[in-house]
Amino acid sequence: MRAIRVTTFGGPENLKLESDLPIPSVGKKEVLLKVSAAGVNPVDTYIRNGTYARLPTLPYTPGSDAAGIVEEVGAEARPGQTCLIHGASGAVGLAAVQLAKAMGLRVIGTAGTKEGMDLVKETGADLVFNHRQDGYVKDIQDAVGGADIILEMLSNVNLQKDLDLVNAKGKVMIIGCRGPIEINPRSTMGKESCIMGVNLMSASDEEFKEMHCMLSAGMKVGWLEPKVSTVYPLGEAKTAHHDVINNQGTQGKLILDTTK
Ligand SMILES: NC(=O)c1ccc[n+]([C@@H]2O[C@H](COP(=O)([O-])OP(=O)(O)OC[C@H]3O[C@@H](n4cnc5c(N)ncnc54)[C@H](OP(=O)(O)O)[C@@H]3O)[C@@H](O)[C@H]2O)c1
Repeated sequence: MRAIRVTTFGGPENLKLESDLPIPSVGKKEVLLKVSAAGVNPVDTYIRNGTYARLPTLPYTPGSDAAGIVEEVGAEARPGQTCLIHGASGAVGLAAVQLAKAMGLRVIGTAGTKEGMDLVKETGADLVFNHRQDGYVKDIQDAVGGADIILEMLSNVNLQKDLDLVNAKGKVMIIGCRGPIEINPRSTMGKESCIMGVNLMSASDEEFKEMHCMLSAGMKVGWLEPKVSTVYPLGEAKTAHHDVINNQGTQGKLILDTTK
């Protein structure tokens, strides 16, 4: 490939155009960009001179702004992937729809009622299916093929369906689980898919800080809006506990109002 190379720090005469450089290989979290245009910044000259505080290892190609075409995507590169939120009408699901959308994913959500499906769609999902309707897994397959990431709210019911739906090298994230389920582990082999448990309570202080910053930024900018379905006076805590576990037709978060 063609690129400018600098082998010695110094003046502009050190910018050498080379035409037979190897194309870099793509790391797991990288993309390979065929650069059509590159921005030139004052900092590029400081670095070239060798006077900047942080210098690259020689030889290097200058520049930090680039525009072009993505030719290859590393195994964990995320925008553009398809995310299925299996149980998207609940508290976690509706937040996940918004977060996944903000990260540039194509979002498929499921809900168990028309009202829930409408809410999931309004919240930003590209497509919504009814997880109480026979044949919905096939409908998802027909519509999108499969999903790269599945966020699963009821894995004791859905894990085998998820293993059938997940794409090659995809991940099924277990968020909710209310009991055991029998699965065929073979479903993971051909696709080299992965099942991963997720537990908010296992997050580190650093991760909590990171989440807090992201969520508050989202609410400030406006791409994240908490979805509340029912507000109970504090004295109705018992009812809220009953509802959170028995509700069907969920439409967001249940809240206790401690001022009432
Ligand atoms: N791992 C963690 O760190 C973590 C954190 C928070 C919550 N959780 C767990 O995650 C689960 C969801 O929490 P939540 O607060 O979102 O609960 P929620 O508000 O009660 O929502 C439950 C969701 O599950 C859906 N659902 C019901 N039957 C389903 C089925 N057969 N297939 C797929 N989805 C189905 C409901 O849809 P419809 O009502 O529309 O049918 C609804 O969207 C719970 O089990 C909770 O304990 C885990």
